[in-house]
Amino acid sequence: MADYDLAVRGGQVATGFGTVRCDIGVKDGRIVALAERIADAARVIEAGGLLVLPGGVDSHCHIEEPQPGGGANEESFATASAAAFAGGTTSVVCFIPQWKGHGVWDRYVDYRARAAKGMLDHSFHQIISDPTDAVMDDEVPRVVAEGVRSLKVFLTYEPLHLSDAQYLRVLTKARELGCLVTVHCENYDAINWRTAELLKHGMTAPKYHAWARPPVVEREATHRAIALAELVDQPIQVFHVSCAEAAEEIARAQARGVKVWGETCPQYVALTAADMDRPGFEGAKFMCSPAPRSQEEHARIWEMIRRGTLDVISSDHCAFSYEGDKGKRQNGADAVFRDIPNGIPGFAARLPVIFSEGVSKGRITLDDFVRLTSTNPARLMGLAPRKGMIAVGADADLALWDPRKKVTITNALMQHAIDYTPYEGLEVTGWPVATIRRGDVVMRDGKVQAEPGTGRFLPRAPYDLIRPRGVVPDGFDPAPPAGR
Ligand code: URP
Ligand code: ZN
Ligand code: ZN
Repeated sequence: MADYDLAVRGGQVATGFGTVRCDIGVKDGRIVALAERIADAARVIEAGGLLVLPGGVDSHCHIEEPQPGGGANEESFATASAAAFAGGTTSVVCFIPQWKGHGVWDRYVDYRARAAKGMLDHSFHQIISDPTDAVMDDEVPRVVAEGVRSLKVFLTYEPLHLSDAQYLRVLTKARELGCLVTVHCENYDAINWRTAELLKHGMTAPKYHAWARPPVVEREATHRAIALAELVDQPIQVFHVSCAEAAEEIARAQARGVKVWGETCPQYVALTAADMDRPGFEGAKFMCSPAPRSQEEHARIWEMIRRGTLDVISSDHCAFSYEGDKGKRQNGADAVFRDIPNGIPGFAARLPVIFSEGVSKGRITLDDFVRLTSTNPARLMGLAPRKGMIAVGADADLALWDPRKKVTITNALMQHAIDYTPYEGLEVTGWPVATIRRGDVVMRDGKVQAEPGTGRFLPRAPYDLIRPRGVVPDGFDPAPPAGR
C-alpha cells in the first residue's frame, strides 16, 4: 500500500507568500506532505515546468438560481462545475435567492439539493430582498445555523433592492448571528431617473446601460453602504467594484479601521463601455452591473488592487445566452437596454484573464494573483485553511498552470452552458493544464472528468471579526464605536 494516493512532483508551488519547488503528497483528499521528494504514491503527476496553484475560490457567482415562476437560470451546477474546473477553480460561493413575499428556508432546502448534483465544493450567500419579521427572526437564523455565514443585499435592481431601513435591519441581524454582509452598491432611484430620461429621448441601445449607471451612482451607494455598516459595526464586502471613485470610499473607510472589504471582477479590467457599442445588438453580450468602464478606469482598478483596497477577484458569473427566449437578444426584438438581463458568463475566463492581464503583463505579482483569486476569498468567506491554500491539512485542491502557454479564448474553451463569451478572441498568456479537487484530477488538458454529485457543501463558522460588545438581543448596540 502506497504512502500517498497522489504525488504532484516537481512543480513550482505558489503559496501566495513566495514560490517553492517541492512535491505535494495527498492522502484521502487532503494535502499531507510538502517535501523535496515524495516517492511512494499510487499515482504521480509530473508538474515540472508548471506552477502549482491552490484551486481557485470564486466567492461571487450565480448558478442555477431558481426563478419565482418555476425553472432556474441557464447554468446548472453540473455545467457550472465543468466551466469552473476548465478554468482552474475548485470552490464557489453562490446565492440562495429570496423573492419578495417569500421566505428563505424552503429556498435553502431546494438550493442545497440542486448544488449537491454538481461537482464543485460550494457554500452559499443568502440573498435578503424582503426582510420581514418572520424571515429575519425565524428563517434566517435557521439558514445561518446550517453554516450559511453571509447575507447578500442589493441596493438597486427591481424587485430586489432594499431601503436604507431594510439594509440596517439586515446589518443588525447579521451582527447578532455572526455573518458577513455582501452588498451590491448602486443607487436605485438615480439609475431609474437616468433610465427614464434616456428612454424618453429614444436612447434605447445596449450602450446606454452604461450611461444610466455612471460611477457616481456606484460611489454614492458604496459610501452609504459603508456608513451604515460602520454605524452598526458590521463587517461588509462591497461586491464588483468597477471604478476608482467607489474604491476610494472603501480605502478611506479601511484607513479608519472600518471592517470593509472590496471585490472586483475580470470585466472591470478587461471589458469597456465601448464593448456595449458594438455593431448590431452585440453590445448586449457585455451588459452587467455595474457597467464595464474604460481603459483608464482599468488602470485605476489595478492600482486599487495593488494597494490592497480591492483584495478579492471573483467572476460574478451570471449567465444568459445571447439567443433564445430568455436570452440577451430577446429573440431578435432588439430590446430596450432596461429590459436586457444583466450579467455575463465568466467562470472559466476568471483565472486566465487575471493571470494574463495581471501577472503576465507585470501589473501584479504571482503571489498577488494567488491571494486575490484563492486565498483571500477563502479567508474572508471562512473557508480557509481548508480551501485557498497549499498547506498540510488543506484539501488537495490544485490548479497546475502553464504560465507561458498562449491561448486565444473561444466560447468552446469556456465549457459553460452559454452560447457566447465576452472574452471571445482575447489572447491570454497563462492557462490551466490540470485541475485537482480533493485529490481527484477533474480536468486535464481541457477535458473535464468529474462525476456529477461529487461536490460537497462547505458549512462555515461564525465570523470571528464580529466581537459583540454586550449586544442586546435585537443586535442593536447603543454604544458608539470605540474612540468615535
Ligand atoms: O450584472 C450583474 N452583475 N448581474 C449579476 C447580479 C449581480 O448584480 O451581482
Ligand atoms: Zn451585483
Ligand atoms: Zn452577482
